[in-house]
Amino acid sequence: MSPGPGPSDPLMRAALFAGRAPSLHNSQPWHWYVQAGQLELRLEPSRVLRAADPDARLAILSCGAALHHARIHLAAAGWRIDVIRLPDPDDPGLLAEVVLGEPAPADPDAVRLAGVVQRRATDRRNFSAAPVDLHRVHSVRGAICRERADLTLLRPDQVIRLGQAAEYAYQADSGAAGRRESAAWIGGDRSVGTGIPAAALPADPYRLGLAEPARLMRRAGTALIAESHHRAAVFAVLSTAGEGRFDWLAAGQALSAGWLTATTLGIAVLPLSVVTEVAASRDLLRPLLRPPGNPQLVLRLATASDTCSPATPRLAPEAFVSRRPSADVR
Ligand SMILES: Cc1cc2nc3c(=O)[nH]c(=O)nc-3n(C[C@H](O)[C@H](O)[C@H](O)COP(=O)(O)O)c2cc1C
Repeated sequence: MSPGPGPSDPLMRAALFAGRAPSLHNSQPWHWYVQAGQLELRLEPSRVLRAADPDARLAILSCGAALHHARIHLAAAGWRIDVIRLPDPDDPGLLAEVVLGEPAPADPDAVRLAGVVQRRATDRRNFSAAPVDLHRVHSVRGAICRERADLTLLRPDQVIRLGQAAEYAYQADSGAAGRRESAAWIGGDRSVGTGIPAAALPADPYRLGLAEPARLMRRAGTALIAESHHRAAVFAVLSTAGEGRFDWLAAGQALSAGWLTATTLGIAVLPLSVVTEVAASRDLLRPLLRPPGNPQLVLRLATASDTCSPATPRLAPEAFVSRRPSADVR
């Protein structure tokens, strides 16, 4: 094994902690390299869904969520850090460097968010019928805005447009490669540590009769929107002013900040990327955004129910964290 930081190293602990972050189809498309005083976050190409996400936009967004998890872990543990995003234009896979600074008092906001990371989960079930508290939703929006992204809350009439965009995305044929890819990540028991187990998918409450789990999940996006419209959920679009790797990374950090804030406030979050995977559906959402920007992800926000969501698996540490001697840094 390479000489370098041990498991007691705060950077190693932060990288392991970041493994709990949410990701597209639980693909966990990140790899952390730990060395003395510094962490490197890289996109892991073997875990990018090439058919659904050809530009790796949602993979980089997922890596941004992992980066935010690592940041709050270090801030909660009492470390100053410096984060350099996309440090090398000639090395597009290198998404960020996290440089450890001096010890500092633990940041109370980071302590609060880090404390709910194990509890945060994607809630695809029908949620509590209690209306969602809009003050709390605005706190979620505040957390997102502080990470250089935005959240547009949709009015009921705009949810109809969202439903159209979801239906359009569902009807768009993802082709045989797309269907194979979805089937490889969704359903089954997921003993490989990635993907969405069948237990975490909605049972077919819409009697759609779709045997294939991946299609059920895509279809459920449309059905959930139709159903939720009547049931006090709020739909919102997470957006960024720009459109590029820096913005996608920011959107992911914002997703993590907003989702963890929502968890502290008893709000269940369901991201629906299906609607933003298809360019034409994304275009349908664009006119709804205030301020104008680029739609990255649709979120359903609802009052959390009392029961826990089924846990999804995670990769073993050696699959996403490596130690690297300082001399090898690039
Ligand atoms: C970029 C992104 C897109 C996602 N899109 C969807 C989606 O369309 N539908 C869905 O049910 N879950 C979606 N999710 C949730 C993931 O499936 C979930 O984070 C992952 O399975 C890990 O489970 P956990 O969030 O319960 O830890 C998305 C998550 C991210 C980060």
